[in-house]
Amino acid sequence: MSDKVRVAIIGLGFGAEFIPIYQRHPNAEMYAICRRNRQELDAIGDKFGVKTRYTSYEQLLQDPNVDAVHINSPIADHAPQSIAALKAGKHVASTVPAATTIEECRDIVETQRRSRKVYMMMETVVYSREYLFAKELYDKGELGRIQFLRGSHQQDMDGWPGYWEGFPPMHYATHCVSPCLAILGKHAEHVVCHGSGRIDETLIPKYGSPFAIETATFKLRDSDVCGEVTRSLFNTARQYRESFDVYGSKQSFEWQQVENEAPVIHTKSTAQAPLGEAEIPRRVKVPDYAHLLPEPIRRFTQPAAIQDAEHLSFLQGGGHGGSHPHLVHNFLMACLGKQPGMPDAETSVNWTMVGICAHQSALKGGEKIQIPRF
Ligand SMILES: NC(=O)c1ccc[n+]([C@@H]2O[C@H](COP(=O)([O-])OP(=O)(O)OC[C@H]3O[C@@H](n4cnc5c(N)ncnc54)[C@H](O)[C@@H]3O)[C@@H](O)[C@H]2O)c1
Repeated sequence: MSDKVRVAIIGLGFGAEFIPIYQRHPNAEMYAICRRNRQELDAIGDKFGVKTRYTSYEQLLQDPNVDAVHINSPIADHAPQSIAALKAGKHVASTVPAATTIEECRDIVETQRRSRKVYMMMETVVYSREYLFAKELYDKGELGRIQFLRGSHQQDMDGWPGYWEGFPPMHYATHCVSPCLAILGKHAEHVVCHGSGRIDETLIPKYGSPFAIETATFKLRDSDVCGEVTRSLFNTARQYRESFDVYGSKQSFEWQQVENEAPVIHTKSTAQAPLGEAEIPRRVKVPDYAHLLPEPIRRFTQPAAIQDAEHLSFLQGGGHGGSHPHLVHNFLMACLGKQPGMPDAETSVNWTMVGICAHQSALKGGEKIQIPRF
């Protein structure tokens, strides 16, 4: 097998941000792009010098030169397109969420097993510098025993493409669920969720979901730890927050703040090492983890560098904590069989199903829902 993976990117809104990273990764050939609108497809193809272009996803899958697809289409397409690609013998990277139903989640896992290809959900938060920092603290023993985890992802989606209108908040919960599970390397077992408030009457019928906020607690399998996550999308005055908090017996990490504010570490005062109240919380500067990447893509952990060098006017979420090059690198290494994809198919759908089952729970007034295992 060649040491270069030939990649095709599908969906060129958010998806276009990954083109320059694949182009510079030593183990990738940025081979093809796909989007239905020919004019816009050509505009991106010309800008980045990508020659192979498809307006039809089905035709792209028939191209034997495509080793791997990276799917960035609208949410409802993620699972069907992933399953079709695995059946066509391609490795799959799918943006979040993996799916919107339990049946699709089952289908992804079963098709991935039969195909023996890589399936990886491209969850940005678990490659953000804030998550990598908290994980490093935990792995070094500095947090002590983890007692509780909390994630929140609030985003005002007013004015976004139509498929977002009225979307159940928990159907897009992986950004807040994933760090809570990844740090302990566990899956979620069951979930309870409450819906709160009410969105505009005109938005409710689109997905039959009335809630402005959904807030869930879930139990980690083979663990005594619980996590809690909160989501909002419409009619709530909180423009953007993507955060998670880890409460440990020795130290706790809180990333629950206004964007770009430094996170806080709280240290437990003990008889052996007493701390004054003012010394207990301290803001920390989170380091960059570019050194984990091949040299040519290191600069992509800095969103400003990508924006300037590639003349991208549309970088979403400020590059999501420097995560994009880490996702690309992990996916390519998994395709080449050098390391497992993180998250793998089972983990991707577990993170996704916490949200799907949470929404079921909210619709049933907070009933406890078991998360299926495949
Ligand atoms: N942090 C993150 O992980 C993150 C951030 C932003 C967006 N996303 C995800 O990325 C996806 C895309 O987001 P966006 O804002 O670019 O959406 P968008 O709706 O603006 O763009 C979707 C793109 O997919 C293309 N497309 C649609 N159907 C297609 C098909 N059948 N075949 C080929 N191309 C098709 C469209 O032409 C467009 O280029 C969303 O599902 C969103 O969930 C994730």
